[in-house]
Amino acid sequence: MAKGMQELMQLRQKHVPPGPFNTTQAFIKEARGALMIDVEGREYIDIAGGIGVNNVGHSHPRVVEAIKKQADQFIHTCFHVAMYESYVTLAAKLNDLAPGDFAKMTMFANSGAEAVENAVKVARYATGRPAIICFDNAFHGRTLLTMSLTSKNMPYKKGFGPFAPEIYRMPYAYCYRCPFGLTYPKCQVACADYLEHFFINYVSAESTAAVIAEPIQGEGGFITPPPEYFPKLQKICDKYGIALIIDEVQSGAGRTGKFLAIEHAGIAPDIITMAKSLAGGMPLSAVTGRAELMGKPHVGGLGGTYSGNPLSCQAALAVLDVLFEDGLLKRAETLGQTVRARFDAMAEKYALIGEVRGLGPMLAMELVTDRETREPATQQAKDLVSRCFDKGLILLSCGNYGNVIRTLMPFVITDEQMEKAMAILEESLAEIDRG
Ligand SMILES: Cc1ncc(COP(=O)(O)O)c(C=O)c1O
Repeated sequence: MAKGMQELMQLRQKHVPPGPFNTTQAFIKEARGALMIDVEGREYIDIAGGIGVNNVGHSHPRVVEAIKKQADQFIHTCFHVAMYESYVTLAAKLNDLAPGDFAKMTMFANSGAEAVENAVKVARYATGRPAIICFDNAFHGRTLLTMSLTSKNMPYKKGFGPFAPEIYRMPYAYCYRCPFGLTYPKCQVACADYLEHFFINYVSAESTAAVIAEPIQGEGGFITPPPEYFPKLQKICDKYGIALIIDEVQSGAGRTGKFLAIEHAGIAPDIITMAKSLAGGMPLSAVTGRAELMGKPHVGGLGGTYSGNPLSCQAALAVLDVLFEDGLLKRAETLGQTVRARFDAMAEKYALIGEVRGLGPMLAMELVTDRETREPATQQAKDLVSRCFDKGLILLSCGNYGNVIRTLMPFVITDEQMEKAMAILEESLAEIDRG
């Protein structure tokens, strides 16, 4: 007999440590498209997407078929021992898709954190410099180096030090809570120019290998810089021979309606990291960058046993087909417009919503208890997520104060499902607003 939720929860509590967190109590039996069904038959609309991994939806038929076919042929050879076509074909496709009219190369790893680790290794090796500049509110992963690059103390860093050296952190373009107390556009995006000042006060440009930034900060609260921000950062990086690493782990693979979020800024980063939705749920991450940087580290300096696993590479090739051939990127754009209109309308009605922000369907609302003071409505956001779950909608909060509600819906979500998700969200908001 299949086990029920209660029994499974008891097993979980007894045998799995609490550190690997759970945002819901659900145990899932099946998931398709934007729907998940738990072991007791309860249905949920999923706009969390397994934390941004299911842009093409749960178990997309083309992805499943690609995995099955590959599993029938072989599961693992290790790219370093015996190569296979999907690895090199996928690398070539990502090199083409990444912006920039220059030669690029791609290597694969398994997780987002691993991609970031490798991007930093490449940048350090190629420049011969040690320092990495990262940002307030950044999230780059949970390994020692990426945790050190990550900003938020609790729960990511507390008690896990000492951290990796040669990491320097500067403020990000968080316009709603400007760290410089300025207002866009009058500020002229001074937060980007600040990088020059940073070199004087904190770490010299000559010892800086890379600046690493998310094009929209994901875990940090879907913080979306103004359009001038990245062109300015890139110009300064270029001036000093510093590699600009853009971490697209959460924002890539179509999340913002373009394949990469940085395309909205119109720049070509030196190195890009991708993961999450890239392989439709299979573990895969990629580092794509300028050939002259990526090609520098010596033979054997990069890699890993499972990196670029054949099942994951085939799944990613299927994801690219679905995004580009089946028109899912277009669908993402439409979804973005629909959801933004709904969020904007909710913001008119509920004072709890301080700001609606994002790009395409990578959208969020920051909740505040008071629009004047912008006091984060942390408890209300928690309450909102929990009420939505009780009504059959799974979504996630984010942000330093946990007061930002984000959407990471699969693009295959139907209009009816999306409408139902928005209705549940609004009903829950209204309940909290009434107190
Ligand atoms: C921008 C960004 N970088 C890196 C990571 C780490 O990815 P992973 O959890 O696959 O290691 C994440 C995960 O949320 C992320 O959002």
